Amino acid sequence: MATQFQLSKNSKGIKPTVMTNILKWVVQKGIISFAGGMPDPSLFPLQEITKASQKIAKETGPIALQYAPAQGHLGLKEYFADYFRERGIKVSPDDLVPISGVQQGIHLTCELFLNTGNSILITAPTYFGALQTFDAFLVNYLSIPLTEKGIDLKQLEHIFKTKKPKFFYVIPNFQNPSGITIPESQRPEIVRLAKQYKIPIIEDDVFGDLYFDKPIRPLKSYDPEQVVYLTSFSKTISSGFRLGFAVPPKKLTQKYILAKQLNDVGSSTYAQYIIHEICNNGTFKSLLVKLRKEYKKRRNALLKSLNNYCYDFCHWTNPQGGMFLWVYLDKKIDAESLLTVCAKQGLVFLPGSAFFPHGDGGKNELRLSFSNLSPDKIEKGIQLFSKIANSL
Ligand SMILES: Cc1ncc(COP(=O)(O)O)c(C=O)c1O
Repeated sequence: MATQFQLSKNSKGIKPTVMTNILKWVVQKGIISFAGGMPDPSLFPLQEITKASQKIAKETGPIALQYAPAQGHLGLKEYFADYFRERGIKVSPDDLVPISGVQQGIHLTCELFLNTGNSILITAPTYFGALQTFDAFLVNYLSIPLTEKGIDLKQLEHIFKTKKPKFFYVIPNFQNPSGITIPESQRPEIVRLAKQYKIPIIEDDVFGDLYFDKPIRPLKSYDPEQVVYLTSFSKTISSGFRLGFAVPPKKLTQKYILAKQLNDVGSSTYAQYIIHEICNNGTFKSLLVKLRKEYKKRRNALLKSLNNYCYDFCHWTNPQGGMFLWVYLDKKIDAESLLTVCAKQGLVFLPGSAFFPHGDGGKNELRLSFSNLSPDKIEKGIQLFSKIANSL
């Protein structure tokens, strides 16, 4: 919208995107939505949160509602330092910086690393929420294809060496949007190359807890000083609490804490108390077991339906965790045109172009989210998807 005021140059990068439409689609009654990337809210531990809240009101009192230092709740950080150590990341509680979700971690990272016009490296495709933030910093995009084989290490080295990106943003586990996991065999070399060419890795591990069969070592575990690790509770305990952790290299921890303080004073004190209680009483770990089982069931339903109804016009990834699967359509089917027809008949997904800088890519690709649909709805939706695609 035009305004009489002179906005900043960077504000030109702040534009509506596909994210703006998703919420609209997700809440429409009767629509089968493979579009949103949200957890199933019925799987949030509502009863346990209610109990924890009562306990905190009684035992901690109003202090849980007060401002608190940006450094965060010590007990919670102690718990998660142990938890991250179980995943191979050697950290102490002081290395953890509470953030209001990974989205804020990405934003703080941009504030700390970028000047206007700097080049950054992303995988193609990548998470559109990160692209939105990068756009607002008017970055110059360098990209490297992400396939089921992972990334081409020779190409990675070439980009590191010749283009010197300010950082490499990557979602190694059950990526949003593709569901792809970078093979463990590639991980030590990715981190080694980053170290050799002095390129920080920004590791977004928001789905790391939602593995279906076995946990996967984060990049951070190979060299903590080379990686800013970002994760949150959005896909497990509650997206609405807006809480997670950044674990930067030790030398940057203080900078992240200060940037966080400038940004919003500190993350919710109350949410930190609740999550601490949910972790201490064992709810968090049992919740993870339940979520892995439930989302795996939905992934299986989606794979089965795709195999049954869609084998003749597309192929797809095989996610080992998370909430998404990526479909490669026959070249003659344009994903955006397919979406337009599907939406009219009560079915939505996200077209691949949403996950490429400036919408430049993924024309015959699309993302299906399986997190928020029952197996029955998944089958019904994929039957309809197949019928429409075959009628084009
Ligand atoms: C890859 C990825 N990173 C970050 C986010 C944002 O997460 P948070 O709610 O922790 O800010 C999402 C949300 O879907 C995501 O898919």
